[in-house]
Amino acid sequence: MKISIYIAASANGLISKSRNVPDWLSPEYGAGMMAICQEYKAVIMGRVTYDILAPDYLPLTHEGTTVVLTNNEDAKSDNSTVVFTKNEPAAIVQLLTDRGHTNAVIIGGTATISTFINAGLVSDIYFVIEPVLFGGGLPLLKDVAAEFKLNLVEVAKLNGNTVQLHYEIKNA
Ligand SMILES: NC(=O)c1ccc[n+]([C@@H]2O[C@H](COP(=O)([O-])OP(=O)(O)OC[C@H]3O[C@@H](n4cnc5c(N)ncnc54)[C@H](OP(=O)(O)O)[C@@H]3O)[C@@H](O)[C@H]2O)c1
Repeated sequence: MKISIYIAASANGLISKSRNVPDWLSPEYGAGMMAICQEYKAVIMGRVTYDILAPDYLPLTHEGTTVVLTNNEDAKSDNSTVVFTKNEPAAIVQLLTDRGHTNAVIIGGTATISTFINAGLVSDIYFVIEPVLFGGGLPLLKDVAAEFKLNLVEVAKLNGNTVQLHYEIKNA
């Protein structure tokens, strides 16, 4: 199972503004995120990100698996692709493998990305760097002690000001 991250970041590396308003994200980031979710048909996100996207903006609607990390055992969704879980990353990978998936993409946020990075289960990262600087907000990683070296796979210009950097994680 190959697990990728697809995430937008400010030019100074933050993935969320303190006001949590997504006015800095380009349409190209939205299109790229939807495209990789549609291609892999297996999406992983945290409950905070789910609450931002559900019900109308979840990338998968009828087909595939949307794993939502939460400790809330009573969580329910009208979206039939959604599976709520508090399982460890390795058990989530097993669940996706059992459902026939070979690729999955994590789309946020910080807690969820950090959980999978700490488990050493992420193969590659797509960073969409948006042309904006802001001071308050969330970093990509929190409480990650290990250090990872990256291989640059591709640089793509998505529009006049936005670039997408694709890195492989070397020691994943
Ligand atoms: N720039 C981008 O591309 C992008 C994309 C997506 C999101 N974001 C931003 O990211 C922010 C959200 O990030 P976040 O770190 O606050 O939240 P998150 O990762 O989306 O969700 C955190 C929640 O997921 C659950 N969770 C996480 N790790 C878990 C684990 N190991 N076991 C069980 N449950 C776990 C918990 O849910 P419960 O509290 O229910 O137990 C936790 O409160 C938002 O501001 C959003 O705008 C940015």
